[in-house]
Amino acid sequence: MNQAELTSAVDRRRTFAIISHPDAGKTTITEQLLLFGGVVREAGTVKARKTGNYAKSDWMEIEKKRGISVTSSVMQFDYAGKRINILDTPGHEDFSEDTYRTLMAVDSAVMVIDSAKGIEPQTKKLFQICKMRGIPIFTFMNKLDRDGREPLDLVNELEEVLGVDAYPMNWPIGMGKQLAGLYDIYNNRIELHTDEPEFLELDADGELKESNPIEEESVFQDAMMEVSLMKEAGNQFDEAKIATGDLTPVFFGSALTNFGVKTFLDAYLNYAPAPSAHKDEEGDVVEPKEEQFTGFVFKIQANMNPNHRDRIAFLRICSGEFDRGMDVTLKRTGKTIRLSNSTQFMADTRENVETAVAGDIIGLYDTGNFQIGDTIYAGKRAVQFEKLPQFTPELFMQVSAKNVMKQKSFHKGIKQLVQEGAVQLYTNYTTGDYILGAVGQLQFEVFQFRMQNEYNSEVVMQPMGKKTARWIDPEQLDEKMSSSRNLLVKDRFDQPLFLFENQFAERWFAGKYPDVKLTAKL
Ligand code: G4P
Repeated sequence: MNQAELTSAVDRRRTFAIISHPDAGKTTITEQLLLFGGVVREAGTVKARKTGNYAKSDWMEIEKKRGISVTSSVMQFDYAGKRINILDTPGHEDFSEDTYRTLMAVDSAVMVIDSAKGIEPQTKKLFQICKMRGIPIFTFMNKLDRDGREPLDLVNELEEVLGVDAYPMNWPIGMGKQLAGLYDIYNNRIELHTDEPEFLELDADGELKESNPIEEESVFQDAMMEVSLMKEAGNQFDEAKIATGDLTPVFFGSALTNFGVKTFLDAYLNYAPAPSAHKDEEGDVVEPKEEQFTGFVFKIQANMNPNHRDRIAFLRICSGEFDRGMDVTLKRTGKTIRLSNSTQFMADTRENVETAVAGDIIGLYDTGNFQIGDTIYAGKRAVQFEKLPQFTPELFMQVSAKNVMKQKSFHKGIKQLVQEGAVQLYTNYTTGDYILGAVGQLQFEVFQFRMQNEYNSEVVMQPMGKKTARWIDPEQLDEKMSSSRNLLVKDRFDQPLFLFENQFAERWFAGKYPDVKLTAKL
């Protein structure tokens, strides 16, 4: 690829994640997008995969059991001249640190909300990570075909609960059985709720250009009034604020009945950014259209085939072009690695990828070379991208080796899996016992499975439940502060922190030690 070809290929890329609380409709909307992209021909394909009917024979046992697979981790398709990469952020018990880290590899996010429920806990957590990254976040208020909460109420909630300004791109004309259409504010038209897409044009004053029976309906009159009020009193459309994630454009629609989804996608693609630049550790910027190939590993998926210890490292390409068989340098070790046949592309089918450019995600077959956060590059200039953030675990588990004679493999396994970022490791400040921390239950299961299969180490795990981790300045630390309700532990960098049983314990601590400052990480 010459520079002009690279530039146009990178400009075409749109890489984003869909974030939501389980059941809000992420799978359904993903499926609609794939239908538009011509990747799947029938609705239900992704869904079948999610429920396991589609599972291929060689997935790792846990994946099989849960019906999640590597193939659905990244979905690529072409639409309207763009090449779109959607990164999956699993929900339910599959929620893990990987879910958070995936958000480090996207340039924007779509937040799907169930309009009967509003903002739910997982939406909030994922939103906060996107906010921290300062990427554009678009909102899709789903399930308009059912009776939900008042639209105004939902929009206000975005501002109140998430602290983000909201700008409605369209407005529902009725909902549930009364759903008549959408006032498409952005395109200044009415999108009718009919089997085939049908639009009514509006004039500059927002009046129908040609009269239509819908004018007689009270839901229409209500919607027109609400929109005109909002135009006066609400937020202004502001592209700069969208770009930094300070304003979220809001779309209403129904993924299930495919209403408003295409309008959403078209508008979204107008504002979703092309691949962004990344900073290296020195603060130097690596531009996506630079010729030199660079990328970082944001996720490692444990293996499908128990006979081999390989796994797949997910790489976000940050600049240049990837060619199969190229030699790259792994910055952490300085080692040269050939990205040859082992490289696969995580598209609808697991095909070998020949070329890919900045913005794309590729899966590298890994036999233990890569760790999460690793940078690889081709060419002379050594690049190490900024560290990926660490996320504060919420679930904790005491762990020990079942067989005391096998301490060596136990320690080796823990060390490697922790380095790889599969789980977080803590030690009890006084006893030195190992405690694992995770943001989702699946991380423990994967840990246990891999310890057994890859390190031949059977582990005993004892749940400690949900806790809140708060770090304390070592200068202020007194070991006597530790109790069963706020257990003192060390992280893997030897920094002290407390694991609080609940909010009550935290408040009690704050009351007892008013001068002690505790901090939460992300
Ligand atoms: P998720 O990936 O976010 O977890 O959600 P998913 O798409 O699986 O949707 C969760 C449920 O909500 C599904 O119903 C789905 O059909 C339904 N749903 C999604 N979008 C809409 C919508 O726009 N309107 C309505 N009315 N329902 C919607 P389910 O009963 O759990 O699954 P299924 O038995 O229908 O497959």
